[in-house]
Amino acid sequence: MTTNTIFEPFRIKSVEPIRWTTRAEREILLRAAHYNLFLLRADDVLIDLLTDSGTGAMSTHQWAAMMEGDESYAGSRSFERFRASVQEITGYAHIIPTHQGRAAERILFNVMCGPGDVVPNNTHFDTTRANVEAAGAEAVDLLPAEARQPGVRLPFKGNMDVAALEALIAKVGRERIPLVMLTVTNNSGGGQPVSMENARAVAAVCHQHEIPLYFDACRFAENAYLIKLREPGYADKTPKEIAQEMFALGDGCTMSAKKDGMANIGGFLCTNDDILARQEKDLLILTEGYPTYGGLAGRDLEAVAVGIQESLEEDYLRYRIASTAYLGNHIAERGVPIVQPPGGHAIYLDAKAFLPQIPVEQFPGVALAAELYLEGGIRSVEIGSLMFAAAAQMELVRLAIPRRVYTQSHIDYVVEIILQVFARREQIKGLRLTYEAPFLRHFTARLEPVS
Ligand SMILES: Cc1ncc(COP(=O)(O)O)c(C=O)c1O
Repeated sequence: MTTNTIFEPFRIKSVEPIRWTTRAEREILLRAAHYNLFLLRADDVLIDLLTDSGTGAMSTHQWAAMMEGDESYAGSRSFERFRASVQEITGYAHIIPTHQGRAAERILFNVMCGPGDVVPNNTHFDTTRANVEAAGAEAVDLLPAEARQPGVRLPFKGNMDVAALEALIAKVGRERIPLVMLTVTNNSGGGQPVSMENARAVAAVCHQHEIPLYFDACRFAENAYLIKLREPGYADKTPKEIAQEMFALGDGCTMSAKKDGMANIGGFLCTNDDILARQEKDLLILTEGYPTYGGLAGRDLEAVAVGIQESLEEDYLRYRIASTAYLGNHIAERGVPIVQPPGGHAIYLDAKAFLPQIPVEQFPGVALAAELYLEGGIRSVEIGSLMFAAAAQMELVRLAIPRRVYTQSHIDYVVEIILQVFARREQIKGLRLTYEAPFLRHFTARLEPVS
């Protein structure tokens, strides 16, 4: 028998109270936060969809494993378990723990890139772009034109434009491209998956030119499940088999275990290259820690070792993808413009179409995020002109869903609030910057309403 109810494949054992706020309180709080939701206290948020990064609920198995954490400085048992678990899935020779994804990025780009180099990616995430640029190289996004149209429904809008990759290699020369990256799923590009066919085509171009291919693997399990659902030939494979097949196409990966590692902190850098691995471990010792802990406690390594396997469980992935789609479909069927089709970890509102009266210089995404907070205490994040300035490809508001945290009624509440804001969208005004930091400005920017 099948039912339409989304079945959350877990019971709740420990609860965290949510503090209620009124609209009048939120008006004061929003002003005090300079219209930047990063500057709010989490206690002043009702439903926190700022990020799915490190915000998930851990399982009983993860908590139990944490008690087994071996805190030895060198050669801990926890590292052995972490390495075995990550290696079973990725197949890579060297598994280097880091405290989160951006630490892996910083080390990778520092070792592989320099001034004048160019790094292609389907779409760089903000920290990935910033770390490429901090190493003196240029970050180039190669998303096909149709993937930049939010309303277009295609199964794999995270794909890299393979013809554009070949053209870039021909234009700048193979020697200026130290690596190619593929982000699965494509977070900044709308949480959209990359197909196996596309990954295979990108890998073929890389092999032809002898350019290493690395995955930004933060949401590799969701990507694998979306391949299972959407790509011919994969319906009967397990998510783990699909993930293993994809990793086998590359030479290494960076990973934030705060996503599909199902942990609250952690990450890793993998490579098959022995020489690079030595250089990476040297840098790791300089800033993160000894290579058997990489800035993490032994108990964190245990949480990732268990969590990364749980992220591939089919019951979990079925619920995860269905719950994201439920939010997207319920607002889209009432006319709210979203990036279609719903992806893995988040729903992205198309702020440009939602608020056509606000020009991009007045940050329609930030204005929309502020309204969702005012209306119902929901915290989301702009992925558009504030985050990426001139490199912004779309004006989106991301509603990222923490793993195993919110129930169906929380999601129903989010649907209701979005529809209320949509009903009065014409009254919403733009914002102007009053302060910006020299890089990654969205985290600390201050804004005020345009009068
Ligand atoms: C695609 C992608 N890459 C890299 C990162 C960086 O990971 P971390 O926040 O753990 O440094 C993120 C985080 O959101 C991400 O979504």
